[in-house]
Amino acid sequence: MNMLEVTLAILKPHLIKNPVSMEIVQKRILNEGFKIVNSKIYRLTQEDAEKFYAEHKSKFFYNRLVTSMISGPSGIYVLAKENAIKHWRELMGPTKVYKAQFDNPHSIRGELGLSDTRNATHGSDSPESARREIEILFPEFNLDKWYKEEKIHFE
Ligand code: TYD
Ligand code: MG
Repeated sequence: MNMLEVTLAILKPHLIKNPVSMEIVQKRILNEGFKIVNSKIYRLTQEDAEKFYAEHKSKFFYNRLVTSMISGPSGIYVLAKENAIKHWRELMGPTKVYKAQFDNPHSIRGELGLSDTRNATHGSDSPESARREIEILFPEFNLDKWYKEEKIHFE
């Protein structure tokens, strides 16, 4: 039974501005056994970013977050492997950069995060979020068709 799971990963604008950082993260993605199902370099529009981060609309960091995410192109990936969601979030490390640097200095955020907002990467937090985020950023990508073609078992 094929237990591949997908997650939506973003290499945030400040990270891909530096080709060396971008290469480090891309290599880590492949070394960790993720399959890149879909990828693009894409600059989020204001509308994309607002939709994507709707759950944070009332937070103090919301405007800063949206501004930062539309400030330049991001690297956007649909990644697949067993337990992709959990595995990618473990590789990213904690959200807050001081915590990432302190608790998990070799995580992506620990190594490449600049601030709580410019914290290097995004990763979906559940299968439902992954589906929602893929629909926003890869509207042409048919996840169900992909699952079917790959004969993926999923709940
Ligand atoms: P959140 O969903 O809590 O974290 P994660 O990215 O680990 O799922 O927050 C979404 C993004 O909002 C986070 O990646 C960066 C930004 N953010 C801040 O700028 N300041 C903060 O204090 C927090 C918690 C998040
Ligand atoms: Mg989140």
